[in-house]
Amino acid sequence: MAEVELLEIEQRDRRALETASGQAGGRQVFIETYGCQMNLSDSELMMGALQQSGYRPAPRLEDADVVLLNTCAIREHAQERVVGRLAQLSRLKIKRPDLVLGVCGCMAKHLAQNLLDRAPYVDLVAGPDSYRRLPELIAEVSGEPALDVRLDRDEGYLGLDPVRRGGTNAWVTIMRGCDKFCTFCIVPYVRGRERGVAAAEVVRQVEDAAAAGFQEVTLLGQTVNSYSDARHDFADLLRMTARVDGIRRIRFTSPHPSDFSEKVIEAMAEEEKVCRFIHLPVQSGSDAVLRAMKRTYTVCEYLDLVDRLRDAMPGVCLSTDVIVGFPGETEADFEATLALMRTVRYDSAFMFKYSPRKGTVAYREMPDTVSETEKGRRLEATIALQNRISEEINRTYVGQTLEVLVEGDARKGVGQAAGKSDGFKTVVFPRKGVRDNTFVDVEITGSTSRTLMGLLTDASIGECP
Ligand code: 5AD
Ligand code: SF4
Repeated sequence: MAEVELLEIEQRDRRALETASGQAGGRQVFIETYGCQMNLSDSELMMGALQQSGYRPAPRLEDADVVLLNTCAIREHAQERVVGRLAQLSRLKIKRPDLVLGVCGCMAKHLAQNLLDRAPYVDLVAGPDSYRRLPELIAEVSGEPALDVRLDRDEGYLGLDPVRRGGTNAWVTIMRGCDKFCTFCIVPYVRGRERGVAAAEVVRQVEDAAAAGFQEVTLLGQTVNSYSDARHDFADLLRMTARVDGIRRIRFTSPHPSDFSEKVIEAMAEEEKVCRFIHLPVQSGSDAVLRAMKRTYTVCEYLDLVDRLRDAMPGVCLSTDVIVGFPGETEADFEATLALMRTVRYDSAFMFKYSPRKGTVAYREMPDTVSETEKGRRLEATIALQNRISEEINRTYVGQTLEVLVEGDARKGVGQAAGKSDGFKTVVFPRKGVRDNTFVDVEITGSTSRTLMGLLTDASIGECP
């Protein structure tokens, strides 16, 4: 259990946005981000909208005049954490009644008025299609809370420039919303229908990111490979963005297994800048459960896709999402998920206990049959298996030399830097003066299930200033 918590908190749910401090003057805003990469990207857009109206990023929450939580509704747990955080922040409001406290994003849309009843000290509630109106909404706050959670099919945030946090990767949202309606998932209800950002706008944003010094972009969407702007599809977009000078790596997340056309696979294989890493959510290894989830593929079709991806891109690294304890999941269904994980041998995985979400088909029509204890047992078994596989795969990297984009100091170890390989492996090595946002070659000397450890090659040390 502890490990799941860690996995979720570290990698998904708890990412405070550190925005670069800009111009002087103006009211200061602090945005705390929960949830997926899309939320991180949205927080940058929110800051963009606010900056246009004279606000500026607060270096610390304590300095802010406006505190916004950009929230996630995907599992109950994510929601509970935000409610807890709001209670904490309400104490700040007692000391500073003029502080504006807002809830934005998926949970704002999901709970809307109910959120104001549960947390009456909240001043502002804004859904994922209302970020352009944030300055207006903040101005409306005066005793009465401001609420806007309308979904807007036409909102693609065109022309709104994100205020990017530092770092080495620029998020670029290429589509919003989702039309898949997997029976367990709240996303289509809180983010609305699928709509693609025009390819020319995506390319403009990638060019801007390159001009700002980013060498890596990640194209974002709920089902990123179903992208369409009526004239271009995802394969076109991969090729168009790969042509942008200055960008050396292109990543994307998250694709849907049913939208991997041959054309997309071909574009990935042919474009050298497209990284050899694919997050390919499977959810379950049982056809019966996949059907009940409305995932639109069978185990056989999924495995065939994995084969085609590996044939086209030998050595490609794969990760996945797995849900255990979906309504009706039998022991045999669960064993089938473990079997699929043994067959595919993912490099890493996000693993979750099924969490019933009000408003979804599963919530309405499928009784939550698997007990909490049994869900916990299944989750533990899944994590143990994945850890073993990750460890085995990572061990095979010892002796190889990987090109690494240096991201910053490693979390542990004085003088150690960390970065990512093309295949999205975290690589830790003694920094020896190399700068962040540069590419270095690292010879791998050790490994764990999560990390590769290594040493800079002589050539990389020589290149440093
Ligand atoms: N319960 C558990 N996990 C969920 N996910 C989405 N909805 C739920 C839910 N109701 C997981 C899926 C998805 C990932 C982003 O979150 O695995 O791919
Ligand atoms: Fe949710 Fe399914 Fe859409 Fe992914 S594809 S966002 S799991 S409904």
